[in-house]
Amino acid sequence: MFNDKISFKAVILAAGKGTRMKSSKPKVLHEIFSKPLLGWVVDAVNDIYPQSDTKSIVVVGCGAGEVEDYLKKYENVSCVLQKEQLGTGHAVSVAAEELKDFCGTVLITCGDTPLLKASTMRAMLEYHTEHNCDVTVMSAIFENPFGYGRIVRAQDGSIEGIVEQKDANEEQKVIKEINTGVYCLKWESVKNAFKELKNNNSQGEYYLTDIVGWAKEKNKKVLSFVIKNPDETLGINSRSQLACATLIMKNEKLEELMENGVSIVDTLSTSISPDTQIGADTIIYPNTYISGKNKIGSNCKIGPFSHFRGDVEVGDYSKVGNFVELKNAKIGSHTNVSHLSYVGDATLGSNVNIGAGTIFANYNSITKEKKRSTLKDGVSIGSNTVIVAPVELKENVFVGAGSVITKDVEENSLALCRTPQKEYPNWVIKQKNLLNKKGEE
Ligand code: UD1
Ligand code: CA
Repeated sequence: MFNDKISFKAVILAAGKGTRMKSSKPKVLHEIFSKPLLGWVVDAVNDIYPQSDTKSIVVVGCGAGEVEDYLKKYENVSCVLQKEQLGTGHAVSVAAEELKDFCGTVLITCGDTPLLKASTMRAMLEYHTEHNCDVTVMSAIFENPFGYGRIVRAQDGSIEGIVEQKDANEEQKVIKEINTGVYCLKWESVKNAFKELKNNNSQGEYYLTDIVGWAKEKNKKVLSFVIKNPDETLGINSRSQLACATLIMKNEKLEELMENGVSIVDTLSTSISPDTQIGADTIIYPNTYISGKNKIGSNCKIGPFSHFRGDVEVGDYSKVGNFVELKNAKIGSHTNVSHLSYVGDATLGSNVNIGAGTIFANYNSITKEKKRSTLKDGVSIGSNTVIVAPVELKENVFVGAGSVITKDVEENSLALCRTPQKEYPNWVIKQKNLLNKKGEE
């Protein structure tokens, strides 16, 4: 077994049009739980060996500018431009310029397969290394293999090549072992193949799959790594497949959480992103949507109808109730935000109580700036309060209902910001009398 990290470089193909999405946005930027498909792929590649500095090359083409902008946040990712999309083999040959002097393993994957797990790619890298392969193809067994490239084997079981759906004969069409489009290559051994690829096929494209036949002809070692869970290889080509991948991702997350002691009252109406951590004995009530990266403690009560938009931390024994939206908020333990509130860009201490209908006003639509507010331990906010950022409310501050808080408040103070209540005795009777008089005139 491999205890050591296998060093490799990744090439991620993401230049394709994605015509079937019927969208003005590049396909790989369509999102699942607020993260682009390509983000899921890059994160998974980076998680193969966490903390190691894996370099990835992303082949961009359609919508290149937008895709490159998105990738700027990844320091270990560089982009190469495939001006014309002449096929998957051509895409890799564009990346090959960057890999000229590279010796070692190249992992090739696609930017539109967000379910492929780091652990699966790691297992494939280990298999490739262990067997000293020149080419390893990730394959899957599909009952309905239509549309995929088929793995063609010789009498002795060895791989002869990959035939695309459109080029397959009747005999090949019944093959159920398909090409998932993920490969490990011993780069120095196969890099010359990319100079020799031909496009004499039904689509007139340079096929990456042809390197398998090329390697076989040169007596190089080609094996397939058969993936156990074919769901992981789902490629997104349409909105319907996007919804399908979202559902698979969410169900897997809910199962994992329940296994770790989190109660999900209604799995059908609850969505939780894979990047969210939740502690044991927390209960998630129905119709809760948790997107982005969040950390929720143990023994919390969340929902029904709560909305987390990412970068939210909630301490143990806290409560987030119905129609509460949270974004970029850090909340301590034993704190309650129970009803109808928006908490955005705020830090709340422990034992804080937020009354119903409290809004954290964090955004100035003219300057487009977002500001943060801080509520220290023990603060209590009356219902229907607006906290206008940036303000700091020190320990145990008490805010009266209906206040609009625009200034900092010192500890243990009452802050009240509303016009004093006036009473006009018999005002209603006077009004009615006036009305009656008018009627008589
Ligand atoms: C490809 C494989 C097929 C496999 C299937 C798995 C080839 C010839 N076929 O087919 O055997 O079963 O994936 O899903 O490789 N891309 C570029 N530049 C291009 C063309 C494509 O970057 O010029 C990118 C696309 O953005 C996409 C990936 O390569 O991310 C795969 O391309 P796609 O056209 O979807 O290949 P398939 O026809 O699905
Ligand atoms: Ca295609």
